Amino acid sequence: MNLAGKKIVLGLTGGIACYKAAEFARALVKAGASVQVVMTEAARHFITPVTMQALSGHTVFTDQWDNRVSNNMAHIDLSRDADAIIIAPCSADFMRKLVHGAADDLLSTLCLARPHAVPLLVAPAMNVEMWDKPATQRNVAQLKSDGITLLGPASGDQACGETGLGRMLEPEQLLEALTGFFQPKLLSGKRVLITAGPTFEPIDPVRGVTNLSSGKMGYALARAAHAAGAHVTLVSGPTALAVPLGVTCIPVMTAREMHEAVMSHIGEQSVLIAVAAVADWRVAEVSTQKIKKQAGATPSLQFETNPDILASVAALPSPPFCVGFAAESDDLLAHGAAKRERKNIPLLVGNIGHQTFGKDDNEIVLFDANGHQALPRASKDKLAVTLIAEIARRL
Ligand code: C5P
Repeated sequence: MNLAGKKIVLGLTGGIACYKAAEFARALVKAGASVQVVMTEAARHFITPVTMQALSGHTVFTDQWDNRVSNNMAHIDLSRDADAIIIAPCSADFMRKLVHGAADDLLSTLCLARPHAVPLLVAPAMNVEMWDKPATQRNVAQLKSDGITLLGPASGDQACGETGLGRMLEPEQLLEALTGFFQPKLLSGKRVLITAGPTFEPIDPVRGVTNLSSGKMGYALARAAHAAGAHVTLVSGPTALAVPLGVTCIPVMTAREMHEAVMSHIGEQSVLIAVAAVADWRVAEVSTQKIKKQAGATPSLQFETNPDILASVAALPSPPFCVGFAAESDDLLAHGAAKRERKNIPLLVGNIGHQTFGKDDNEIVLFDANGHQALPRASKDKLAVTLIAEIARRL
């Protein structure tokens, strides 16, 4: 993920999630951002400025009266050239302060003094009961209506031993959300359905036929489409990947389940991106019991053809903009162009199957009615952003 050249003010308020802020600062720096940390007094009970200084590479500001800024106006200076201010963790009390325009410490003052053009994002972190209280929820609604972006919280185990909503998002999720925040909103208001991953066609209750698709390209496209402002539905075969933040995921196993999920949601979509490596065939008769080994005998399986999901959608009377993927093993240029025409779709993305399955990067060729265009090898995340821009341009 790329935040090269971005100036980020990272505010820390009091909460045990400060330990995750250390890792978040590190991830921001790794993504190319320049990070200026500002800590409240409460935050300093959980983590020291020295730690945050070492990780961010800049001295940390904690005090409104800090005389390191020549005009003694740290609250003005720090926010003026920031690309974004992100408060992570943001305590319930700090949310209250933001709602009321408090200015009684450096962090709240610089939030209040920030120019309109500097976005403010907050990642709440608190106990589930604190999050659930009407007072907190009133503050959440007010922050949203004031144009402040809320990231999370997540649900799960809490440091206090309780379980529920209020956990701060993980550092990589915060990084993903912040990176997405800076993407141009090319698909704003559009609905995008993406199929991803392999399918699993059972033989018996414990065995099946599948392929080596990891789902990485489809999930990267889901992230990029969401970051571009689209409402994204991801119909995913079995993968080991986390569902991207803000994306609705419909998990499926078999090609027929994937077909059913896609067809029942396709009516409202502007775009279908069929990335899934759908099994072409399924086992005709699935055994309800585990097939027993018998000395000297091997089972023989009969197959039936699975529905072609992409072709079914492309054949609808008014289909969404359809994008297909082709994983070939040879002569990509000839096979890609022919497959695009056969599937009757406006855009097809070709790649060499065994060079992409499970990898973090890829080399792709785009086929449309005008010919083809090869894109240089890049990370799947980067290619996904390019591909979303190409789709948006053609819509
Ligand atoms: O024909 P082939 O399987 O090579 O086509 C690949 C493209 O078609 C991919 O976009 C894939 O997601 C889609 N597909 C599908 N349903 C199938 C087979 C492939 O949607 N049963």
